[in-house]
Amino acid sequence: MKKKFYITTPIYYPSAKPHMGHAYSSISADFIARYKRLEGYDVKFVTGTDEHGQKIQKSAEKRKLSPDVFCNEISKVFLELTKTLNLSNTDFIRTTEDRHYKTVQRLWKILEEKKFIYLSKYSGWYSVSDEAFYNENEIIEKDNNKICKATGSIVEWVEEESYFFRLSEFQNILIKHYEDNPEFIQPASRRNEVMSFVRGGLNDLSISRNSFKWGIPVPNSKDHIVYVWLDALTNYLTATNYFEDNSSWPADVHIIGKDILRFHAVYWPAFLLAAEIPLPKKIFGHGWILSGDEKMSKSKGNILDPVEILNEFGLDEIRYYLMKEVMYGLDGKINIDNLKNCINSDLANNIGNLSQRIFVLINKYFSCKVPDPKSLSSDDQKLIQCPVDGLTKSMNSFEIHNYIREVISYSSRINKFVNDEEPWTKVKNSDPRVGAVLYVALNALKNIFILLHPAMPLKSEHYLSCLNIDTKDISLSLINKNLPVNAELKMPGLMFKKYI
Ligand code: MSP
Repeated sequence: MKKKFYITTPIYYPSAKPHMGHAYSSISADFIARYKRLEGYDVKFVTGTDEHGQKIQKSAEKRKLSPDVFCNEISKVFLELTKTLNLSNTDFIRTTEDRHYKTVQRLWKILEEKKFIYLSKYSGWYSVSDEAFYNENEIIEKDNNKICKATGSIVEWVEEESYFFRLSEFQNILIKHYEDNPEFIQPASRRNEVMSFVRGGLNDLSISRNSFKWGIPVPNSKDHIVYVWLDALTNYLTATNYFEDNSSWPADVHIIGKDILRFHAVYWPAFLLAAEIPLPKKIFGHGWILSGDEKMSKSKGNILDPVEILNEFGLDEIRYYLMKEVMYGLDGKINIDNLKNCINSDLANNIGNLSQRIFVLINKYFSCKVPDPKSLSSDDQKLIQCPVDGLTKSMNSFEIHNYIREVISYSSRINKFVNDEEPWTKVKNSDPRVGAVLYVALNALKNIFILLHPAMPLKSEHYLSCLNIDTKDISLSLINKNLPVNAELKMPGLMFKKYI
């Protein structure tokens, strides 16, 4: 039986249409999911929409729609985006689904039975935009508004009856968990951030609201609905059908943006510890896609529309660019000039040109069949060997950007080899080494396109099909297994366009 791997994206608020920041989160999770499949794992990959709460209710009101009609409309846009981005998700969860209601209410009852919930009154600051409660020391005044220092969102004073979760009991247990499992929160800078927040002390957390109705009802309560973050985080259990079958839990990794770290690395593990449910193995907080120096976000009006950009430059090109140019875990600026440079130099000039030169010769002089290398020198052997160990190491720590850089530098080495060997001259001089040179380059190209499958699934599948490798067979086990001599090939055509 295949080993299992369970990975999730955040579930998105369908309060407005998706932008490049959302696409980035999903593409990076998809990259990891696809890489794990290359390694032979049976991957469960879940994404979806987070549909309850005041923020959604208000967005619906603005459009004069009921929240359910509003959510149906925008959730569909996120669902379509999974197809447009060619995500390999195995599920798309909506928190308005029946399966999710059941899971949330079940978890609530467990927390209640275990005496981690009590009724009291909340009075404090709340940000509808972040759907978060903030302490007094996190609030500052700006332009006559009270805002949260960290996120810049406006907060309002809330006083209402509320159920509370005994979060304060988990301070030491959480710190011990972070210390015993240094890999739990990644990258390390994020771990430090969380540890210092928890060391600062934890207050009990308000986990219900009773001033509006758009949410999952608290079991046995007429007035309260479940706090949207307790509701949303539970999606990770719902998607595994946890209370009926716990074989897919715990998650191997929750991929999230750094702005929602506190919910995932503090509240979520505390809820699970209280319910005696195993914790996810890892929380990875990636950085933001910046526009200028600011986070790209709807409220700042500085959005790049992923669909517009990929219509112009191609999906795989955009996926490749985001994964290579933004260091995974850090913020990254993206812009069109940089995107064009990246496509031109890595894809068109490096990989594309290599492929073009090799295929023209193979087609013309070897009837479009895998050339017979006759004999391979030890240097040829070394060159054909792709450095898989380094790549695996990069991926084990989710250094996606380094993984891609290593593949590109492998491609550059092959290009240099072809330039030095000049197979176009050798073929004219009937030099017997020409077969070996083309054979090395062709097998290296096979390795390159296998390794780039997580970034560029469509281009990779097309290219590998020309080498008679079926999509379902694409795997790391084919790296360093050479193509059979004399096998018929198909011309892949021009793989990458250049942009001026
Ligand atoms: N609904 C919550 C998540 C619940 S998960 C149980 C939420 N939704 S969101 O739509 O506001 O954001 C979803 C994700 O998109 C977050 O991880 C956030 O970090 C990410 N991004 C939103 N804007 C972003 C950028 N500009 N750059 C990178 N990612 C950003 O929070």
